[in-house]
Amino acid sequence: MKSISIKEILSTEPKQQEVTVNGWVKTFRSNRFVALNDGSTIHNIQCVVDFEDFDEELLKQIATGAALRITGALVESQGKGQRVEIQVSKIFIHGSADPESYPIQPKKHSMEFLREKAHLRVRTNTFSAVMRVRSALAFAVHKYFTDNGFYYFQAPIITGSDAEGAGEMFRVTTLDGKNPPIDENGAINHKEDFFGKETNLTVSGQLEAEAYAMGLGKVYTFGPTFRAENSNTSRHLAEFWMIEPEMAFFDLDANMDLAEDFIKAVLSYVIENCLDDLEFLEKRLLDEEKTKPQAERSDMPLIDKLKFIIDNNFKRVTYTEAIDILRNSKPNKKKKFKYPINEWGADLQSEHERYLVEKHFKCPVILFDYPAKIKAFYMRLNEDGKTVRAMDILFPGIGEIVGGSQREERLDVLKEKMAALDIPEEELWWYLDLRKFGTAVHSGFGLGFERLVLFATGMGNIRDVIPFPRTPQNAEF
Ligand code: 4AD
Ligand code: MG
Repeated sequence: MKSISIKEILSTEPKQQEVTVNGWVKTFRSNRFVALNDGSTIHNIQCVVDFEDFDEELLKQIATGAALRITGALVESQGKGQRVEIQVSKIFIHGSADPESYPIQPKKHSMEFLREKAHLRVRTNTFSAVMRVRSALAFAVHKYFTDNGFYYFQAPIITGSDAEGAGEMFRVTTLDGKNPPIDENGAINHKEDFFGKETNLTVSGQLEAEAYAMGLGKVYTFGPTFRAENSNTSRHLAEFWMIEPEMAFFDLDANMDLAEDFIKAVLSYVIENCLDDLEFLEKRLLDEEKTKPQAERSDMPLIDKLKFIIDNNFKRVTYTEAIDILRNSKPNKKKKFKYPINEWGADLQSEHERYLVEKHFKCPVILFDYPAKIKAFYMRLNEDGKTVRAMDILFPGIGEIVGGSQREERLDVLKEKMAALDIPEEELWWYLDLRKFGTAVHSGFGLGFERLVLFATGMGNIRDVIPFPRTPQNAEF
């Protein structure tokens, strides 16, 4: 049974030729017009049914959500809104969908409602568009790195080390939760656990990527990442996908150049390859913006926003400069920030990041040279002894999209840092080895894939850009 995708059919010259398509019914109007979609494109094919030619019982089963195979002649469309249509000669019902119980009806559903129907929401225009863009972005990521001499590297998902030192990890164990073995100190005895030690799901593949960069030169990871932080925000997931390039012989400037070029390249890729979906998502966003108060509306349509990122340089600012700007800012003086900025050393919250990007600079910002105290142990210490070669990229509407750094390549400095933070050397003996044998300047960063998809699609909540989101109290499906 040969069929053709709707995407292909829509660009085929209509010559009365017989075609067969499969898909799901979007709408069935006037017992005559079936709008069919198979997921290959945002556009539907209109199939015109002469109801006198078909059995009434069969027609009754054609309702939104039903899966059909349709055969007919491809002709120039008589109506407006489409170039071609199918004059239906045969209909086969793969499976019907009862309108009384099928939840995805042709009307506006709230995002919250659709989250509860995450197994069906991809049949809506919005989610199919988002997921096609997501897929294209993932391909663009692999393409960019492959074109630029990187090797794709798979870091382990089960790990014995806590890369970020934040301790927000999901434990992996086969011990009996009700009756675990106990050691002489009364603690759970992980020696009897599957791996003979405590293990967790990874929060980052960076440390392992560093090992591989010191042999392959330029590597990147692109895989699932897990964080057990209890953050119920529109920007956090407990399971997300992270892209982590790591490059030997790159300093922080080269790292920033790469991150900026990379983001611009993948966004250009989706503009070139997903224009139909982006145009649909742009309209969706405009409609959504209309429901917001004037002051909160974004003044740039989605595609212009993506082009703006591609065409403009990211503004590079030190943490110290940013603190000065924030300290003297209107919201800080008027006590509008939830976390007022008083002194150097304060950790930046998303309200501060968004002020810098959306109000002050009005463009993406790369903040660098952060205080050592608020950043991870592996970042390279600057000559001043108090800042590290860290960089975060901040995006409008998103806040932090990238976190990265030049790594501490000096064995003695790294050891001192670990001692100060009570990180046992035995745990990271292999990481220290990298500084003993052929150490070199090296850098890398991590980009949260869902935050990138969020930006590219103009969606408002990170739960709507990953197929089945995992968040606190939610692991349905
Ligand atoms: O800033 P983070 O924690 O950096 C690291 O993990 C480094 N090891 C990366 C590196 O240098 N190789 O996380 C990197 C990015 C963030 O900027 C953000 O985009 C995303 O990962 N991210 C999350 N995305 C969704 N949900 C969460 N809970 C996230 N936490 C971080
Ligand atoms: Mg970060």
